[in-house]
Amino acid sequence: MGWIIGIVGLLLIGGLLYWQLILAEGAYLGRRVVILLYDWSARIYDRIKGFNPGYEQWFLGLPLTQALADFPDPLVLDVATGTARLARTLFQQSHFRGRLIGVDLSRKMLQQAVQATAVWSERITFIHQDAGQLPFPDATFDAVACLEALEFMPDPDKVLREMVRVLRPGGFLLTTNRIGKDARWLPGRTCKPEAFEAKLRALSLEMVQTRLWQEDYDLISAVKPGVRGPVGMRRLEEILRCPRCGQPLRRQEAAFHCANGHTVPITPEGILDMAH
Ligand SMILES: C[S@@+](CC[C@H](N)C(=O)[O-])C[C@H]1O[C@@H](n2cnc3c(N)ncnc32)[C@H](O)[C@@H]1O
Repeated sequence: MGWIIGIVGLLLIGGLLYWQLILAEGAYLGRRVVILLYDWSARIYDRIKGFNPGYEQWFLGLPLTQALADFPDPLVLDVATGTARLARTLFQQSHFRGRLIGVDLSRKMLQQAVQATAVWSERITFIHQDAGQLPFPDATFDAVACLEALEFMPDPDKVLREMVRVLRPGGFLLTTNRIGKDARWLPGRTCKPEAFEAKLRALSLEMVQTRLWQEDYDLISAVKPGVRGPVGMRRLEEILRCPRCGQPLRRQEAAFHCANGHTVPITPEGILDMAH
């Protein structure tokens, strides 16, 4: 009898670990576990995902380039940028003339992102920082994206609010909602397509559209109401804010500093390390 209880116990523990670590990717075990898992898998992430360049262009690169066609020097923010999947397809579009800032909390994913986008490095900045606190003033970006990541955040709604805050009036939002059979293993982190759309409308977004994208994800776009006037190219110093006090940051050699004496080091790979 004892051995039966032992086997059942082991199966239950194995099942629980499989749910928490594989299906939910650490989402309920805290931010540190999520990031640790991405740090561990960063080198094989692209191989696991097997991104198809044609699909990437059709669903991401082209629609985003078209949405930004009227902006002279569009500035794009990619929240939870990972290995720079969005940057890669966007910069391959010959009509895209803008710049991109990618934020992620996994150092190893960002290191892969730097390598994968080296040819466009003049137009891309990567920042090591939590998505729940975006280090930029209100209404900074012409487009804000967050792909395949909201469900792993401790508070996805807070991240959405931050994304909308830093989006300029008239700006374009692109994000994903987890669907399919695995979504049921992420209670409280995903919702039905109608509920997700309602959430975006409650944040005052307009033209909310859901597209079936992959087996596991819907792709959702929306627009922030308002008129988008041209602002032209802005220097990094004009848009960066200190993650600790919100003051502007000024570059001095290999770091950024704010007036309150806080420092944001720049790593040898060129990543702004705000979460050090
Ligand atoms: C499934 S990957 C998606 C990456 C990329 N957007 C893509 O579509 O390939 C999820 C990403 O979210 C990042 N992430 C998870 N929690 C985060 C947080 N709180 N702040 C910033 N990034 C986070 C992970 O490090 C990882 O790179």
